[in-house]
Amino acid sequence: MCGIVGYVGERQAAPILLDGLGKLEYRGYDSAGIAVYDGEKIRMKKAKGRLKVLSELTHDGEIFPGQTGIGHTRWATHGEPSDVNAHPHFNADNSIVVVHNGIIENYLKLKKKLKEKGYEFVSDTDTEVIAHLLDHYYRGNPLQAIIKIMHRMEGSYALGIMFRDHPEELYAVRKDSPLIVGHTKDGCIIASDVPAVLKYTRDVYFIENEEIVRMKQDSMEFFNVDEESMEKESTHIDWDVDAAEKGGYEHFMLKEMYEQPKAISDTFSPRLKGKEIVIEELGMSDEDILSVKKMMIVACGSAYHAGVTGKYVLEGMARIPVEVDLASEYRYRDPLIEEGTLIIIISQSGETADSLAALRDSRSRGAKVLGIVNVVGSSIAREADNVMYTWAGPEIAVATTKAYSCQLIALYLLAMKFAQVRGTVTDGELERYIEDLKRIPDQVEMLLNNKNRIQKFANRYLAARDVFFIGRGIDYAISLEGSLKLKEISYIHSEAYAAGELKHGTISLIEEGTLVAAVLTQEKLYKKMISNMVEVRTRGAFVLAVTNEGNGDVKRAADYVIYIPETNQYFTNSLAIIPLQLFGYYISVGKGCDVDKPRNLAKSVTVE
Ligand code: F6R
Repeated sequence: MCGIVGYVGERQAAPILLDGLGKLEYRGYDSAGIAVYDGEKIRMKKAKGRLKVLSELTHDGEIFPGQTGIGHTRWATHGEPSDVNAHPHFNADNSIVVVHNGIIENYLKLKKKLKEKGYEFVSDTDTEVIAHLLDHYYRGNPLQAIIKIMHRMEGSYALGIMFRDHPEELYAVRKDSPLIVGHTKDGCIIASDVPAVLKYTRDVYFIENEEIVRMKQDSMEFFNVDEESMEKESTHIDWDVDAAEKGGYEHFMLKEMYEQPKAISDTFSPRLKGKEIVIEELGMSDEDILSVKKMMIVACGSAYHAGVTGKYVLEGMARIPVEVDLASEYRYRDPLIEEGTLIIIISQSGETADSLAALRDSRSRGAKVLGIVNVVGSSIAREADNVMYTWAGPEIAVATTKAYSCQLIALYLLAMKFAQVRGTVTDGELERYIEDLKRIPDQVEMLLNNKNRIQKFANRYLAARDVFFIGRGIDYAISLEGSLKLKEISYIHSEAYAAGELKHGTISLIEEGTLVAAVLTQEKLYKKMISNMVEVRTRGAFVLAVTNEGNGDVKRAADYVIYIPETNQYFTNSLAIIPLQLFGYYISVGKGCDVDKPRNLAKSVTVE
């Protein structure tokens, strides 16, 4: 996500900050800023856009002299990308300055309290709350003020902090967001990721949750929340810069698949309040929700596939009719939008040309549009009536994994909210859905840890010519995405079919050895699926099954079985997709394809 760099030492800080931030550019960002103590006061410069803009404004840091500084590249979460929302953030008299990665979940509550005490806010960020909160607790001892705010903040944070009254000190603290520190030849450096420090040191300390670091030019001290000093061991980094950018993973796609548990949890956590689903950004009262008669989900590619799953979940759980459309079709088909229709546009980038055109078309017809978007401040986010963000963070690999998984979560939350208000689920059912939702991150992690088995299986199919994915109901939606993941990065021809359609033509394509991936997570459809699997198997297909733990019958009709852990009938997609993502990934790796940048594809499709 965002990038943090900080330095205190003998050298000029600003060029080190800019250089370090440059090494974190690959993480994605929309604005950047630095703050440096100049011997008298802390000076700050921030700019929307590329780091180049900030470098030009500061003459590569030259006009920001000083030996203590912090810098940041921001990927917008709270508040659109802008100069004002960029980090660092000051307290009122510019004596405390903060850079932050992560999300402060209770920032609205804290902001309200601080406002009541007279604090004024200039940005829309959650980070500015941290600067004012520090100010509130600061009595001359930075460490004690930091410990105090740690007890007040909920959510995740990695912070770099400077105090004007302690100009030769730099502070760092973290919870659930990575942060490292290291000694350079002439000082100390902090960063949110290894690539930023490799030029200066290869021995780093990984800060653990709720640990605080005080750095001076020639010393580095670690503290716990009880203000007790601690000893830490450094770790030697022997990766090259390229590997470091990917956090040691071979590809961004693999790294992003591994980020899914956190991304999923970041997407649902702020919207679960005890037994309630609270989606403030929907901008809909219970009455508004009750007045929705129909939903139309419009999107492209994987986002469309998430929408297909959404249809099953929303219709099943909230008993509301849902149509799903490809944006490129919808925009030219003169859709019938009646009163009470809610249009939902799903997009990772928020810039997909067809999805944006569909949004504009819908609004011009007077429909209310909800965006489910990953990139804050993107065109779709700006132009939709309301936006529900997926908190997947920047996605670099062209083939989406974590953003898709977060789109599913957003749709589950929406279904749960509508079901709750419309009374189509009981309190007990809703509680169980919430519990199931909370278990998804750990279950996804468990499935990811099974990667070696999938890799072995994938290696047997590197020469496959055609692969078919089949499923019924939600499993058909999973098949669509599994098939796209495989074909787009491995260049193997692949199709997804609703299993009942096989007999209507496709089955003639099955030859001896053709791989058919059958997804069967819907208990009520097991028998139907097993019949379809038997049909292809008797015609020579090799059947790979992805099914729920405990489905013993499947072995009758499958040659190879991958089990997913138990969840309810609506959430199975979030689990079944993991082995299919891994399968596509390992075929691509095995064939030596360019996994992160497949041929002919772009990450953001801004033209028709
Ligand atoms: C496939 C993939 C694409 C996108 C599609 C829509 O892995 O990433 O199919 O899902 O281009 O993009 P967004 O979500 O940015 O609108």
